[in-house]
Order: sequence, then structure tokens, then C-alpha cells
Amino acid sequence: MTWDLSIASPGRINLIGEHTDYNDGFVLPAAIDKHLFLKLKKNGTKNRCTIKSEGFENTYVADLYDLKHGTEGWHDYVLGVLKELQALTQELKGFDCTMQTNVPIGSGMSSSAALECGLAYGLNELFGLGLEKWELIKLCQRAEHNFVGTQCGIMDQFASMMGKEGHSMLLDCRDLDYEYIPTNLDPYVILMLNTNVSHNLAASAYNTRREESASGLKLISEFFGVNNSFRSITKDMVEECSTMLGEIRYRRCSYVLEENQRVLDAAEALKRGDIIALGELLYKSHKGQREKYEVSCPELDFLVDFSKGERKILGSRMVGGGFGGCTLNIIHKSAVEEYLAIASSEYKRKFGIELSSFQTVPSQGTTIMKQDG
Ligand code: GLA
Repeated sequence: MTWDLSIASPGRINLIGEHTDYNDGFVLPAAIDKHLFLKLKKNGTKNRCTIKSEGFENTYVADLYDLKHGTEGWHDYVLGVLKELQALTQELKGFDCTMQTNVPIGSGMSSSAALECGLAYGLNELFGLGLEKWELIKLCQRAEHNFVGTQCGIMDQFASMMGKEGHSMLLDCRDLDYEYIPTNLDPYVILMLNTNVSHNLAASAYNTRREESASGLKLISEFFGVNNSFRSITKDMVEECSTMLGEIRYRRCSYVLEENQRVLDAAEALKRGDIIALGELLYKSHKGQREKYEVSCPELDFLVDFSKGERKILGSRMVGGGFGGCTLNIIHKSAVEEYLAIASSEYKRKFGIELSSFQTVPSQGTTIMKQDG
């Protein structure tokens, strides 16, 4: 079969800055060298879209005139993107699509953002919709908000779409201002350890965390008469409001301010090549996620704690929404093999679960590959 277009759309890691994106904060993500690959072609119909995902037997058929929820989890990411593209342009027509991915699914690597961004980018090209990358990024986020029901921030879609080989991105989520930062950690490497758990509460807890930090912020900003933004408040203000906030909101709000500062410090550390300082910030970030934002889980905590016994690991933390998925570890390349062997066996002994792993490097964002014959 001849396709009009082939697209590669990556997952992402996040060096630091978790749960700060929807709190007007900073993040430091990078696209990775694991991708969702899409092939697309127009099929001459007005409204019939067929999507075949390798690994699923059936071809999913969507009707552009009647976009209802699908039956598999991934259908809704596709449908959400179609709906938002239609809302913006009304210029989509029938197409055929086939896709396969090597981004680990449900592991905090943003396999869903890779799908949304790849599809939106591809359809924008295929039908000449003329949308800019930043419009596609926001559109993909709306697809999650409006169709999938996760009130996610902008980090995943931004990182997948805008990634640059060899660089991470210091992104200001308030206005999407960003800076590419060269990210070569040699002789250290980025090793991802996948807990292979994804606790059920992840989606609902995500939205709850968002509400808790927003309601804490509202109380503080009203009390001081400042803008309703984490950028307008300080740690002293949070301290002063601690009784009014109550334990939970107090913890959430102090975490956001501390994590924002850690992101800025990490970007500086990267720029001066201070990987030791970067590693320390990773450990502090994880402690914040575990104790203050409370989005970690025993499996992640175990891996982070275990890494502290290996002096060739400079830092480790959970990545993404939390409650499972991967830890990111900055480890000397000479120690990887041996460390993997002991970490895997200890993890298996403790939880009865196989650990999986991969090394990754900052990579290019969503791109068109050569046309397939
Ligand atoms: C998920 C969301 C992101 C971000 C992270 C936590 O990956 O999609 O927007 O909030 O969690 O940092």
C-alpha cells in the first residue's frame, strides 16, 4: 500500500518539574528516542477514518460526522484530536492511518501525547490545514481535557512536538516561552527504570491534586490581594497562610514553589555542566513528590531509595503523573549493567514484579519521515 505521509512522534522524559506545568510553573523535559510511527493517506471519502494500531486486531473506524467515545483507551486520544481539529478548521476528510509504537504505554513516558501530536501534526500536513506547532500543541491538550477527561498540563504535548536532539527544554508553562539547553551528561547516562505498575487512582488523583493546589493558591492570592498565579506568591506568603490552608493545601502549595525553584536551579546546573548538582536536585524533587505532593508509590520510592546505595548514581526521581511508571536515573555508564542486575533482582524479591529498563537520550520532536513507497 502507498502512503502519503509517514510521521515519527516521540514520548518524553522530564528531568525535573513535576506537576508544575498546570500550576503556571517551569518544567525541564526532553523528547526521547522512542516513537509512535504513523502512516497516513487520504481515502477519498468525506468522513470515513480508519485507524489500524499494530498489536490490536481490528481496524477502528471513526465517522467525522459523528465522533463518539471509542471502546479502547487509545481511541479517545484519536477521537479527541479529530474533534478539536474539526472544531478549528472543519477541513478534515476521510483518511486511512496505521500506527505502531515503541513508547512504553502507561509508564509516564507520554505515549498518549506522542499519539495526539503525531496524528495532529500528520493531519495538519495531509490536509494542508496551516496550523502552527503551538496551535497543535494546545489543541492536543484540549483533546485530553475535553474528550479524554484528564485535566493535564501542557508539558507532554510540548515536549513531544518541540523536542530537539541533544537538548532539554526549559519551558515556562505560563506563556510557553522556552529555551533549549544542551543536555549531554557524558560519562553519565539517563537510565529509565520501569516499575511496571500503574495504580488505578492515577487519573482521579491527578485531577484532585490539580484542584487542591488551585484552591490553595486561590486562598493565598485572595488573602494578599495578588494575581491568582503561583508566580505572584512567595514561600513566606504560603507560610503565613498555613493555618488557613490546612495541611494538604499547605503541602501542595509549598511543593509547587519549591519545585519551580528546583527547575530553575537544575537548568543553571545543566548549563554549567554540574551534573552532581543536577542529581541532588532530582533527589530533592522526588522527596517533594513523595512527601508534599503525594504522587509517588511504594515501588517508585523503593527504586529511588535503592539508587542511593550506588555511588555512581547521581540522582533519581519518578517521572510524569506518578502512582507508577518510571524513575529517571543519572548513572555513570560504567555502572549500568551491574546496577540493573541487582536492582532488578531486589525489586523482584520485594514486589514480585519484573523491572524493565531502557537508556535514552534527548531527541527530535514530532517530524515527517521520508514518504513511504
Ligand atoms: C502528566 C501530565 C503532564 C504533567 C505531568 C506531571 O504527564 O500529562 O501535563 O502534569 O503528569 O508533571
